[in-house]
Amino acid sequence: MPFFNNISLLPPDPILNLSIDFSLDQNPQKINLSAGTYKTADGHSLVFTSVRKAEIDLLQKHLNKDYQPIEGNSVFLKNSLELLFGSDHALFTNKKFFAVQTVGGTSALRLGGEFLNKLTCQKIFISQPSWPNHKQVFEKTGLKIDSYPYFDFNAYKLNFSGMCQAIRQMPTGSVILLHGCCHNPSGVDPTFEQWKELSQLIKKHELIPFFDIAYQGFGKDLELDAQPIRYFASEGHEMLIAYSFSKNFGLYGERVGFLTVVTSQQKQIPSIASQLKVLIRANYSNPPLQGARIVSTILSSPELTEEWKIELKNMRDRVVEMRKTFIASLLVKGEDKNLNYLQQQIGLFGFCGLNYSQVNRLRKEFAIYIPSDGRINIAGLNTQNIEYVVNAISSVME
Ligand code: LMR
Repeated sequence: MPFFNNISLLPPDPILNLSIDFSLDQNPQKINLSAGTYKTADGHSLVFTSVRKAEIDLLQKHLNKDYQPIEGNSVFLKNSLELLFGSDHALFTNKKFFAVQTVGGTSALRLGGEFLNKLTCQKIFISQPSWPNHKQVFEKTGLKIDSYPYFDFNAYKLNFSGMCQAIRQMPTGSVILLHGCCHNPSGVDPTFEQWKELSQLIKKHELIPFFDIAYQGFGKDLELDAQPIRYFASEGHEMLIAYSFSKNFGLYGERVGFLTVVTSQQKQIPSIASQLKVLIRANYSNPPLQGARIVSTILSSPELTEEWKIELKNMRDRVVEMRKTFIASLLVKGEDKNLNYLQQQIGLFGFCGLNYSQVNRLRKEFAIYIPSDGRINIAGLNTQNIEYVVNAISSVME
């Protein structure tokens, strides 16, 4: 008897599938501005020189391929936490946290969601809009999904009052998912003053902040991008942080990230650790070796760290430059709608108000691939393709 006859067909992934469609497109002018990956000035993927050096170093060490501990590589975790919090954060004195290496940022979100659902929480509130995968990841954890207003599509800016209003109405004990920096897809973050207000409000309404940070170093700089999370931690929130090394080390396919649970009671750490370890063991058993080894090799070496920071800064500078050129070229074309907003965005993405049918026209008429929410990966622009992109956008916006 056939068992698999009634399986329903699900839609393809709204971001990752675009790169497949792109690779099949025969148009020689095709441009892929979909997934948030960095491209060089001549349009290629980039492997950091610091990463290559770390790989050579690792190869020469003839390391074993044994299983890792369930929580992952301890040196990697120490280095990563210091990168996120700064080495002198009070968190390290109090030791009220437990961190585990994960399979990229996505499995950190999934693991955190499962942990929360199993132990305390029922509902998670996600910004509207957000990375499309957030909803899907948290649905799989059993948490109920709700949203809070984040971006005002009429005024083209952060809807801070709407966000605060929604927070006031969230049931006690709910989780609020926050983007640590470089909000995906809008590129607009609260100011530091607004983060402080959010911290107060979240505490007052007894919510659990869950930060997703995937772009540290791509916004303002490594330190400023971590400031909101450092602040929340110093304010004593019990919270979770999912971190991805895909972008800031260019280790996309290595799948390396971590999850940290911060608690108010140190005595809870062994229980928290035990719960996380059982969830990991029942899922992927223990995390992969190589990505964590690369990150820890770089962050354990002052020379490689310096080289990596310079490489990261150069990438950030190129994206900032491309954003400026993009805005200037749109202005020349007479497009002034939302440009002021585009100027204020940070990170890889640009959100300039293209609707679903305009996105489809970009793809069909110009072979330019962006997700249906109109998000543009500014890091995919370069001096050779920007004019073509701007002309195409102008044409579909007419
Ligand atoms: C993106 O938002 O484009 C990236 O985070 C890639 C992904 O996994 O969706």
